[in-house]
Amino acid sequence: MSSPYAYKIVQLRNGSHSVHSVEHGETMHPGLGPAEEALELYVRQPRLVERQRELDGEFVIWDVGLGAAANALTVLRASRDVSNRLRLVSFEHTLEPLRFALASSQALGYFDGYELVVERLLAEGRVEFQNGRQAVTWELHVGDFPALLRSAVAQQLARPHAIIFDPWSPAKNPAMWCAPVFAGLFQLLDPSRPCVMPTYSRSTMLRVALLLAGFYVGSGQATGRKEETTIAANLLELVPSPLGLDWLARAQRSGSAEPLWEPVYRQATLKPETLERMRQHPQFNGAAVCSVQEKNKPATTQPRAC
Ligand SMILES: C[S@@+](CC[C@H](N)C(=O)[O-])C[C@H]1O[C@@H](n2cnc3c(N)ncnc32)[C@H](O)[C@@H]1O
Repeated sequence: MSSPYAYKIVQLRNGSHSVHSVEHGETMHPGLGPAEEALELYVRQPRLVERQRELDGEFVIWDVGLGAAANALTVLRASRDVSNRLRLVSFEHTLEPLRFALASSQALGYFDGYELVVERLLAEGRVEFQNGRQAVTWELHVGDFPALLRSAVAQQLARPHAIIFDPWSPAKNPAMWCAPVFAGLFQLLDPSRPCVMPTYSRSTMLRVALLLAGFYVGSGQATGRKEETTIAANLLELVPSPLGLDWLARAQRSGSAEPLWEPVYRQATLKPETLERMRQHPQFNGAAVCSVQEKNKPATTQPRAC
């Protein structure tokens, strides 16, 4: 299907349809397709529905890279029976993919019933509505996300309980995967508010950047063609399979482990000072790694203190 936009609808191997960016040469949710991948990776894995139920008060989700809204709409559809309030805060620097996806909503399928809500979000930048039992405020911040993180606006945002981090790939969209972006994100978290952040990349340079920022980091579940993804959090208990010393040893040997410090993609081995900073991370402190690995799965390499 061709389009007058920089986007087109493509059919995936499992028969579902997704949005492809001609400029980036990348397809959104290429593995399982938009609805299923969003559900598995960004809703079920971080237990978003259960965590909303467990909370007394408003649950806040940051949706980084709103794109064609598959993640946002999948969260909404999954949360219809939750009675707590939800604040969905979406970030995007172009509304073109969302306009294109809305115009192609029949082929995509996942807009079903939310077309008017999306139209209002596009027109007004904010929409309040009843989503089944749930009262929702959905706000949209249009602009460059790394710049927004550094701005005064970021200080006014409701602090998240979950972040869905879904830009284009590090090779095509390096500005979104730089170490200072994750440091800025972590600094905006409320330390007393547990926050989990799944993302589809499993790259070592991403994981190192997350650790340097202060997150606990673990391997996330497989999705479609990817045998592993990444899940980060400001609380170790929210990371089901934390990276251990075996991963740290592999990172040390990797030719692509030093995080991006500038918005230009390149691959490099770890600098000695980066490795030293990671060794100081509480995740690689024996007690912390042991207690969670014992609960979840056997450690392949035991930390020194175990
Ligand atoms: C893979 S797509 C997101 C798919 C989307 N989450 C969905 O579920 O349909 C990546 C999105 O990140 C957005 N993006 C890339 N760089 C950005 C930046 N610097 N600031 C804000 N958004 C950005 C792109 O415009 C694109 O729509």
